[in-house]
Amino acid sequence: MQLQEYINRRLADGRIASDVATIINHLADAAIAITQTIRVSGIEKDLGAETGAANADGDEQKALDVMAEEIIITHLKNTATSHILSEEQDAPIATGQDGKVMVAIDPLDGSSNIAVNVTVGTIFSLMPRQDAPVACAGRDQLAAGFFTYGPQTTLIFAFASDTAPQCFILDERHNQFIAMGGAVEIPPETKEYAINAAYSEHWFAPVREWMGHVLAGHDGAYGKPYRMRWVGSMVADAWRIFQRGGVFLYPGDNRKGYADGRLRLVYEANPISFLVEKAGGMAINGCEDILDLQPQSLHQRTPVILGAKQEITRLKALHYQYR
Ligand code: AHG
Ligand code: MN
Ligand code: MN
Repeated sequence: MQLQEYINRRLADGRIASDVATIINHLADAAIAITQTIRVSGIEKDLGAETGAANADGDEQKALDVMAEEIIITHLKNTATSHILSEEQDAPIATGQDGKVMVAIDPLDGSSNIAVNVTVGTIFSLMPRQDAPVACAGRDQLAAGFFTYGPQTTLIFAFASDTAPQCFILDERHNQFIAMGGAVEIPPETKEYAINAAYSEHWFAPVREWMGHVLAGHDGAYGKPYRMRWVGSMVADAWRIFQRGGVFLYPGDNRKGYADGRLRLVYEANPISFLVEKAGGMAINGCEDILDLQPQSLHQRTPVILGAKQEITRLKALHYQYR
């Protein structure tokens, strides 16, 4: 089934509003344009070249960060999007439309992987237009999802009224997203974890202790050998977890400025956590569910620990123990 038909069915069932449907359709068109940019412009241009500018969080912007953002903004301009909250902008962009929906985006996740032809992606979160606060709590999102640009372009998203996320794959012959079969469900148990272990000397006690048990393998407290899989683009690590399970961690650590890790709540942690919970997994910052956090600022960071329920429950208990 094509994405368009899938969305039309949801509309016909009265499960989603038409403004939300239009925005998802336009985001899909933007992702097709970004795919083409990667495939074609990458031949003539270095998509991973630094532009010399930095975003609000101090990250160096790469050529594709800027191109992806421009494409998305262009595609959202004529929808009911009142504001675009982008990783690459200090403040929300007012589109001039009197719409009821705000869209938060990480135009390009995994920037450091662009230059080496490793999967990157686009993350999006639709929320009701807010007056004063920056963004709603993750639990109040209207829809959320992400695209990956890898060997294939894929999409996973869910509407608030959905009980599970749905996955699509781009058929580049016809530029159509086609639904993938099977329910997206994160199994409660796993042997696979993803974390940047180079920061282990900086981790706080709960993650340090959990990792000790994991690395002890068969003879450890969890009694099984684990495998590590880590791409370094959260979208790619998350996509793998939605396909075959696992856990992903970007915890806080004691490096300067990293007490809350590196990932941003509004346009990275919230949309992915929304999907994780719908797929039967858990997403926490340590002691709390990420979706319950009330954002205080647009670029606020949060520790991210998500995936298989059994492991996340263990990690939550360890965070309580050391609180
Ligand atoms: P972005 O490219 O949008 O800045 O996000 C990159 C994120 C995330 O995708 C990844 O998990 C993490 O940064 C990697 O950070 P480290 O290099 O510190 O591990
Ligand atoms: Mn990102
Ligand atoms: Mn980004």
